[in-house]
Order: sequence, then C-alpha cells, then structure tokens
Amino acid sequence: MELIINGGRRLRGAVRVAGGKNSSLAIIAASALAPDVSTLENVPHCRDVETLLGILEALGASTSLEAGRLTIDARGLNGHVAPYDLCRSMRASFYTAGVLLGRMGRAQVPLPGGCSIGARPVDFHLRGFAALGARVVTEHGYMKASARRLKGNTFYVPRSSVGTTINLMMAASTARGATVLQNAAREPEVVDTAVFLNLMGARIKGAGTDAITIEGIKELHGNSYTIIPDRLEAGTYLMAGAASGGDVLVEGMIPEHLIALLAKMEEAGIEVIRNTDGVRARSVADLRAVDVDTAPYPGFATDLHPQMAALLTLARGASTIRETVFEARFAYTDELRRMGANIKAEGDSVHITGVERLTGAPVEAPDIRGGAAVLIAALAAEGTTEISRVENLDRGYEGLERKLRLLGAQISRGGSLESREVG
Ligand code: UD1
Repeated sequence: MELIINGGRRLRGAVRVAGGKNSSLAIIAASALAPDVSTLENVPHCRDVETLLGILEALGASTSLEAGRLTIDARGLNGHVAPYDLCRSMRASFYTAGVLLGRMGRAQVPLPGGCSIGARPVDFHLRGFAALGARVVTEHGYMKASARRLKGNTFYVPRSSVGTTINLMMAASTARGATVLQNAAREPEVVDTAVFLNLMGARIKGAGTDAITIEGIKELHGNSYTIIPDRLEAGTYLMAGAASGGDVLVEGMIPEHLIALLAKMEEAGIEVIRNTDGVRARSVADLRAVDVDTAPYPGFATDLHPQMAALLTLARGASTIRETVFEARFAYTDELRRMGANIKAEGDSVHITGVERLTGAPVEAPDIRGGAAVLIAALAAEGTTEISRVENLDRGYEGLERKLRLLGAQISRGGSLESREVG
C-alpha cells in the first residue's frame, strides 16, 4: 500500500487527538496482570495495538475494541510463551515479559530484534527481572524467566529507560515486599501506567519523579480507565500544519506534555496559542532555523525528532538536531533528500540547511516517526509524493487520511505502483 499526496496546500482547521499509543500498549499489557476484566477508553485503533491484542489473545485473554473502548478479559490467560510471529514486529511486545512474570511466575518471550532506529537491546529489562529474584536466561532467541514469586529490591534503571521502568513497575506490583526504581523514566506514559496499576490495587508512589516505589501485593483486580491523549500524534499534526504554512488546532491534547516542542516551535517563528480546548499552531512568518537536542522527558522527545527535522528543511538558515536517545534514527534523511531537502546525518546529529521548497517524489516511510517526517514533507512539497511502506505509519497513527483531509490535505491510499500496473 502507498499514500499518494498532492502537496503544497496550507493545512487549516481542527483535529482531535487520539488516545496515546504508547500509553495504551503499556496499560493494555498491565490489565492482563489481573485475572479479571478491564475496560479502557480512548484506545487508538492502530496496528501496534492490534498486534498486542493478538499476543494477549494467543496467551488466552479475550479482547474487543470498538470506537476507542477496549474490553479485555484476562481471566482465561494461562499461557506463558509469547508468540514469535507477533512479537518480532513490535518492541512493546516485551511488556508481556513483566506481566507474565508478575502473574504466572514464568515468561518466555522472544527477544525483540533491532529495528531501523537502532539496536534497542533489552538488557536493562533482564537485569531488572534478575534483581527482583527471577532466574533469567536467553536462548534460541527467547528470554526465559521464572520465579515462584518475585522479591522486591532496589534497582537503578540505566539511561532512564521508559520500557524498563514500565516493565519493572508491572512485575514488582505483585512481588513480595517493596521495590524502589532509581533513575526511573518520568514520561507521561509511565505516570499513566502507574495511575492505572494503582486503580487495579497496586501500591505505586513517585511515578513522574525519578524514584518510584512499589509495595507488592498478592493479586490485582480489573478496573476502568481512560488513556491520556497521544502527545506524539498531537505534535505531528502541529508540525504538519506549520510546515505547510497553515493554521492547525489540535483539540484534546495536554500542552504540558509537549512543553519542549512548543518552545522550539515558537523559537522557529510559529505562533503557538494554548486554548482550553487544545493547542493551535499558526504560521505568521517565515520559519527560522533552530537547534534541538533530544532528551528524556520533559526534554525534547526523540519521537518528535524526525518530524521537527522535516519542518526545519523549510526554515531559513542552518539547524542541527542532536539525537541523544537512539543511535541510528536517521533513515528518514535519505527520503527527505529525495524531495529536495538539504539534510545530512553525521555522527549523532542531523544538519539541515533550509531550502525554498520541497518537491514531490517517490519515497518510503522507514519507521513510524520517520514515516511521519516524510509525510510532513510530502504535505508541504510541490507536486505529488508517493509514500510506500505505509504500514509503518499505520503502526502508530489512527485515521491518518481522514484527519488530514479534515485539514484540507489531498491524500489517498492506493496499491503499490507495480500492483496497479499489473492489475
Ligand atoms: C519507548 C517508546 C519509544 C520512545 C522511547 C524513548 C513505547 C512503546 N516506545 O521505547 O517510542 O522512542 O521510549 O522515549 O513506549 N536501552 C538499552 N537497553 C534496554 C532498554 C533500553 O540499551 O534494555 C536503550 C535504548 O536502546 C535507548 C534508550 O535505552 O537508547 C532508551 O530506550 P527506552 O526508553 O527503553 O525506549 P523504549 O521503552 O524501547
């Protein structure tokens, strides 16, 4: 499948942000810790969510997702081996490790492979499980971990990893005794997961700071919860509007979750208006170059780096984005160059010199956020762009074409060029 975009139209109007994809993945996994039923609202219907639901179903849970409401019945969950086919395509599948260990006392989960943004190992997770008393081995491409019941401990989370913090918070919720996570990640998705776990009966304090304590309890129960809005989707639409020289309101988002991005957009000359109903980004002058360093929350999110780079390809002057979280998040730069951008990855940085205009070209979406960068460039570019490997965008964005059409974009979805020629 590919997306076909006739670019160069200023995006104008309002879109409503979906529920957080990354929050949903963590919270859906967390719900399976209890042999019970939970109802989650504001769950985006995107491919990564479908994949995780497939994994939980393979383990014995039953799920139904309709109009953003997910009912998950984990009473029948009895497997401890997560299926390779579904897990290999998505790193968040590794959340099942913490859940299965916490609930069943054993877990066999495929090691997620490297992906196009870097090696992304799970060594921190494994060290954390071992610190909680699990016997952990990796063999034949799987992590195998077991412990009759995990035991609370103090663990220093290296590099303030989001996934490690969430996985250990889940596993420690049913451990014997107290766990302290030092240097914990402070991302809103960590807080959202902790709030939900506490509704399930867990005793977690300090989420949102770098020291989280978890007092283990024997068994959790199901509950209802509404997932926070997706700050990464919101940021993507704000930057798409700005790159097109338009005026876009993203309704329902939480501005505090995007403080670093909004500050950089203002520095780049975009008017940012925070309303009670959302955030509006208005193009009022030529874009100016800015420098950005990605950082853990509340710093500039690595998942907004490629989109920011796309925006800055049209800014006056030279910008540098330094990527400090992932080592190889640069595949999108090759695609943007095909569209006329002056952009080059070097070491841990991306150097951009603004150009007057971008032009449509055949390109691909290399990964979720790299795909969003290419999409932003396509919407701003003169002429037609065909984006292949759209499945990468579908992993993280719900209702992409519908939302962009609401803003005035000309966008449609077709078969691949070859299949259109054949068929
Ligand atoms: C999550 C997000 C991802 C986001 C990232 C950083 C989900 C599903 N994904 O990914 O979109 O880009 O946070 O905000 O929520 N690391 C190791 N060993 C480990 C774990 C991590 O070396 O065991 C490294 C990673 O390679 C990376 C850094 O630590 O360089 C931070 O990664 P982490 O915060 O764990 O990212 P994820 O949780 O995988």
